[in-house]
Amino acid sequence: MKTVLITGATSGIGERLAIDYAAQGWSVIACGRNAAKLNKLSAHENITSLAFDMSDQAEITAASNKIDKALDLVILNAGTCEYMDDIKQFDTALFRRVINSNVLGTADCVAAFLPKIPRGGQLALMGSSANFFPFSRAQAYGASKAAVAYLAQSLAVDLAKYEIAVSLISPGFVETPLTNKNDFEMPMRISVEQASAEIIKGVAKRKHHVTTPKLFTFLLGLLGKLPHSIQHWLALRTIKE
Ligand SMILES: NC(=O)c1ccc[n+]([C@@H]2O[C@H](COP(=O)([O-])OP(=O)(O)OC[C@H]3O[C@@H](n4cnc5c(N)ncnc54)[C@H](OP(=O)(O)O)[C@@H]3O)[C@@H](O)[C@H]2O)c1
Repeated sequence: MKTVLITGATSGIGERLAIDYAAQGWSVIACGRNAAKLNKLSAHENITSLAFDMSDQAEITAASNKIDKALDLVILNAGTCEYMDDIKQFDTALFRRVINSNVLGTADCVAAFLPKIPRGGQLALMGSSANFFPFSRAQAYGASKAAVAYLAQSLAVDLAKYEIAVSLISPGFVETPLTNKNDFEMPMRISVEQASAEIIKGVAKRKHHVTTPKLFTFLLGLLGKLPHSIQHWLALRTIKE
């Protein structure tokens, strides 16, 4: 039985991934902060839980010390999203919260869990297609996911000699509590079931870049390749006065 550790397994994409991997016969270590959700997940056959706060390095290290088996796959999915409402009052507290969870928390998890991934194992980092294009109000979230994307690509290079594959996952809009808070249009938003199925398929193929849904992320990727002046012109047109 292979083992997968998933952060952010108490909600949304991570929760669906935990249930789907368990149904496929994997032993799942589901991580998060929400104790009630972790207890509920542990009721599933094949799922055990591990509670820690991604923004607390000591908690991550203590949690990883409790794991006494090899991790065939680690999916660092946990993350948060907050938007800047008034850019003239640049909110550094918001910026720090998002960077702490999405970037520093992910890096601390890499440090804690990488030693447990054996030769032939896999690491997957949750990015977002948000960083393909300069969206209004997304300074913190987009910057955090751009950092995660670079981290994944560069880790892939240095871990190749250890035969550890690294996948960057870049979803478009997925229906979860995180996007349910959004007050703007979310084109081509997909269900969490579809996202989970496509992520599992892409990671199983040891793909460098797993995207879902294909058409939305392809089109957004194309926009992101346009000259910056054109991207800027298009981005201005997405702002509602
Ligand atoms: N939904 C989308 O459209 C979409 C698109 C692109 C990328 N993503 C990315 O996919 C990931 C999951 O998003 P989601 O939509 O499934 O969001 P979600 O439903 O809000 O779930 C977020 C998960 O992350 C965990 N988490 C957040 N901060 C944490 C912290 N400091 N310590 C420990 N766990 C923490 C939460 O755990 P607790 O509640 O237990 O604290 C929760 O399980 C995120 O990285 C997000 O940026 C989502």
